[in-house]
Amino acid sequence: MTSTRARSAITVTGLRKSFGDKVVLDGIDLDVAEGTTFSLLGPNGAGKTTAVRILSTLIGSDGGRAWIAGHDLAKEPEAVRRAIGVTGQFSAVDDLLTGEENLVLMADLNHLGRAEGRRRVAELLDRFDLVEAAGKQASTYSGGMRRRLDLAMTLVGGPRIIFLDEPTTGLDPRSRHTMWQIVRELVAEGVTIFLTTQYLEEADELADRIAVLDHGKLVASGTPDELKRGIPGGHVRLRFGDTAGLDAAARALGGSTRDDDALTLQVPSDGGVSALRALLDRLEQAAIEVDGLSVHTTPDLDDVFFAVTMVRRNTKHTLRNPSTMIMTIGLPVILLLLFVGFRPDDPRAANLTKAVRACLG
Ligand SMILES: Nc1ncnc2c1ncn2[C@@H]1O[C@H](COP(=O)(O)OP(=O)(O)O)[C@@H](O)[C@H]1O
Ligand SMILES: [Mg+2]
Repeated sequence: MTSTRARSAITVTGLRKSFGDKVVLDGIDLDVAEGTTFSLLGPNGAGKTTAVRILSTLIGSDGGRAWIAGHDLAKEPEAVRRAIGVTGQFSAVDDLLTGEENLVLMADLNHLGRAEGRRRVAELLDRFDLVEAAGKQASTYSGGMRRRLDLAMTLVGGPRIIFLDEPTTGLDPRSRHTMWQIVRELVAEGVTIFLTTQYLEEADELADRIAVLDHGKLVASGTPDELKRGIPGGHVRLRFGDTAGLDAAARALGGSTRDDDALTLQVPSDGGVSALRALLDRLEQAAIEVDGLSVHTTPDLDDVFFAVTMVRRNTKHTLRNPSTMIMTIGLPVILLLLFVGFRPDDPRAANLTKAVRACLG
């Protein structure tokens, strides 16, 4: 084992997974240092849970390698399982048992012994603010209590690496903050956290490093600050009520980037008062109604996400739209064929070159 691997809690190279002909993970590389929080960020269906299920030995991969806590995932799955804890998107809590019984069951599964098991269960109930609810059936718990119990159950075995798969999806803001606090405490104790989330804010709050998963590939990775630095300066984001408004604004405001799903237009701007006034004047002159406006002077993770996923969407848009496809792919091919057909000293070649230059301005 190399020294790098000794300091890495999780190392993954070329991880691949398909379901049928659907490629979910298309060669993923990542490295998570011990005692840090890594966030795999991606929209619904991006493949986050699939990655967690593979790395926690629940399902096999189609290719690639991974080392977890220094153990080869393929060769030593038992050792990997002993080192990790997993709190899934879908809870492991047994609804028919009380909170305390769920924890005792986990203590038994971890062979903690009676005295040690009781001590650990009491400690976790206290830490996760579940002492009062300990004797109540888990089916009566709120969403936040359930997630806390679920995580407490994961911690019974004292894992050094914890996979948290969307731990706060669907939680109210207060429960979400409680969960964040718990994660920070675990990291302070030296635990490594592999966190999946759809929330940029959550990754920004908790993660030392983030990787953005989109269509099976990691489209960006780095510290939250690195990701933000990679994004060009300030902008104004305009939101419209319908596609017609978005179309009109995109025509009126050159150099802007559109998001058809969100009905927003991102316009480069320093965000100053005069720039904003000029922008609004232009929209008013063109009789375009704006539903919402936000000014971004320092990029946030929303901008990062927008930028890295936008490149792909714009490419897809080009390929879907026949006329843009002819312009971007067909035209150069036609020109090339024309040139190849002429001898270098043919006067028609010079004329054509002039015409093309004129077209390109
Ligand atoms: N067992 C499975 N069989 C077939 N398709 C699956 C299976 N598990 C996941 N998928 C598909 O793989 C894609 C990624 O799913 P998932 O990893 O759950 O995404 P995420 O957790 O990011 O929302 C989805 O399109 C999903 O429908
Ligand atoms: Mg998921």
